[in-house]
Amino acid sequence: MLSAHKKFAYPHGNVLYRKLRYQFPCIVRGEGVYLFDNEERRYLDASGGAMVVNAGHGNAEVAHALGEQAAKLAYVSGIQFTHEPVEELARELCALAPAGLNKAFFLSGGTEATEAAMKLARQYWVAKNQTTKYKVISRMPSYHGNTLGAMGVSGRQHYRTVFEPLYIDHPKIPPPVCYRCAWEKIFPQCDYECAQELELAIQKAAPETVAAFIAEPVLGSTGGATVPPEEYYPRIMEICRKYDILFIADEILCGMGRTGDWFAISSYGVTPDVLLVGKGLTGGYAALSAMLTREEIVTTIRESGSEFLHAQTFANHPLACAAGLATIRFLQQHELLARCQAMGALLHQELRARLANHPLVGDIRGRGLLAGIEFVQNRSTRQPFPRSWHIVELITATALAHGLVVWSNVGHVDGKDGDLILLAPPFIVTAEQIQEIVNTLARVVDIVVDEIQHKRGWTHV
Ligand SMILES: Cc1ncc(COP(=O)(O)O)c(C=O)c1O
Repeated sequence: MLSAHKKFAYPHGNVLYRKLRYQFPCIVRGEGVYLFDNEERRYLDASGGAMVVNAGHGNAEVAHALGEQAAKLAYVSGIQFTHEPVEELARELCALAPAGLNKAFFLSGGTEATEAAMKLARQYWVAKNQTTKYKVISRMPSYHGNTLGAMGVSGRQHYRTVFEPLYIDHPKIPPPVCYRCAWEKIFPQCDYECAQELELAIQKAAPETVAAFIAEPVLGSTGGATVPPEEYYPRIMEICRKYDILFIADEILCGMGRTGDWFAISSYGVTPDVLLVGKGLTGGYAALSAMLTREEIVTTIRESGSEFLHAQTFANHPLACAAGLATIRFLQQHELLARCQAMGALLHQELRARLANHPLVGDIRGRGLLAGIEFVQNRSTRQPFPRSWHIVELITATALAHGLVVWSNVGHVDGKDGDLILLAPPFIVTAEQIQEIVNTLARVVDIVVDEIQHKRGWTHV
């Protein structure tokens, strides 16, 4: 077994890896929920990579569709031509999305979709002669992408600090995370102060300067799969309408069936002005994201005499769109959203049964095949571990050494401390594989508890 602490020398070779002190396993193939490395070690991919793989690894149906499209037409510029895959994928996505979202624009990654949405919102208000509107309110913590524009609306402090001189920071409000309520209320004995805070933030920023509010309907990496209570988005929408502000729902992580519905916002009965998807849109078979919006927004920009001032070389990419279509068809034909709901219910039930009272576990939350687990050093006060203990790194490394891939996040409590993992297995996961995930994870957290008890003298409260 690999030591959970093992740090490797900087890898040889020419790849610049994001982690500069770590040797990544070299994966050579994937089958279903499993990955295999070049030493034939098997890993159960319980996070679907970065919450991407929904149709499974090594999916022959999606691979076949990609091969066919590559042989027919791999690329044309999206600003010179249209083609069948983009027309069909746009039709399909708009049909699945909340009614009224009927225009789709395709890019290569989630961050690009966030940037496109910020620009669309700005152009819309300029087209309506409200030229002072440009601010995009978001939540802290949150994550909407990593480029300089997207970073200004993303609330992941440790990613941002060093780049502060380079981007415009936008106003932030606390997220609807009941486990860490900023008002110290206990739901339902509250008045949705988290939603009302948007109104205060708009007033503080001056409504005539605010173009949009961006939020993840079900919180992803920085919110540990928190599902906001049912009134939250209707109230948000009401406030957005009152002040002439667009609502951008970022479903890059939680969309495309991950929570058991095609889109997480649907269960709130709200139609956002802009909806972003990525990640699971192709299940990992190609780099693709999409921005969906209302016809009226596009018409307003057109009638102002402008074009949509955003274009990239790989916009509306035929091969990527074919991968998106094939993935949606696969999920539909194999009824995998129903399976996501059923396996999701089992996952949550088993996680609660095995881990809800574990000394290291503060909270377990989520919906469908998206589950978050928050680790705390004191379950009564919910106090996080000091960052220097690297709890979640220990958990992910120990899990990997036991052949289990989970996703980690740090810093959600105060920008520095906070340890979370996300589970997001492919929708084809079986009941036995759910048991394997939960059993391994339970063993892993026990090992980590032993380790911090021995090495750090930690005793749980
Ligand atoms: C909610 C959300 N928005 C945007 C992004 C950025 O997407 P990408 O990494 O594809 O640029 C992510 C990535 O994790 C995300 O989770």
